[in-house]
Amino acid sequence: HQTVKRHTPRSLAALDAPIVSLTAYTAPMARLLDAHCDLLLVGDSVGMVVYGMESTLAVTPEMMIAHGQAVVRGSQRACVAVDMPFGSYQESPQQAFRVAAQIMAQTGAGCVKLEGGQEMAETIQFLVQRGIPVVGHIGLKPQAVHAHGGFRTVGRGDEAEQILADARAVQNAGAWAVVIESTMEPLSRKISEILHIPTIGIGASPACGGQVLVTEDMLGLFPDFTPRFVRKFADLGKEVEQAAAAYAQAVRNRSFPGPAECVGMPEKK
Ligand code: KIV
Ligand code: NA
Repeated sequence: HQTVKRHTPRSLAALDAPIVSLTAYTAPMARLLDAHCDLLLVGDSVGMVVYGMESTLAVTPEMMIAHGQAVVRGSQRACVAVDMPFGSYQESPQQAFRVAAQIMAQTGAGCVKLEGGQEMAETIQFLVQRGIPVVGHIGLKPQAVHAHGGFRTVGRGDEAEQILADARAVQNAGAWAVVIESTMEPLSRKISEILHIPTIGIGASPACGGQVLVTEDMLGLFPDFTPRFVRKFADLGKEVEQAAAAYAQAVRNRSFPGPAECVGMPEKK
């Protein structure tokens, strides 16, 4: 049994290679991803990917804590970040601290992530000053999907200046990194060049300080909706279907279970 030193926000910020990040919601997936990722994100995308919700709005702190615990148990090398869900931090810095402290204490995660730019700067500062490392999240903010008018690419025209100001505000508030989601490439690049904290892109730019994808998206396991920015590194959905079909056939023609899968089954003569 060897002990592996787990990445921390501090060690990740000092990394001189791109930060490799994927989402994880369960212990077995965390176990598979851990050796290859620097940062495992327990995203509130769990609501859509695992629970079949239409948006992330109904995800609760209890869900994030349960999945956060599973991912921390299943990993030993990657830093784990847990998303703060909609409604658990927007009210006040005090509310945010209460929920973030609960998440940190009950999961053992290394940091929390929350969506928002200038409007969340005070809250980010409040958490960071009290010992909770924070990842910001700007550009497309899925918890604000109704305000955005859908899942879309942001940062065209006037939006660009706002998002740049959001990036600066999140950095100045003390976030150790910031996710930039679904934002015009030149703007994502510019933000990544200007900021001194790492940017972690999803639908952003190769110039970002790291990249993140929803694991089920890049594995081909989430067929509902695939944004343009997803690259499918595998087609596991197809493999699952083929395996289920083979199993169904084996059950129906009684070739499963076979002698090797039963105890004391007489050999057929
Ligand atoms: O919830 C999520 O999965 C996320 C990442 C995709 C950045 O916030
Ligand atoms: Na999220």
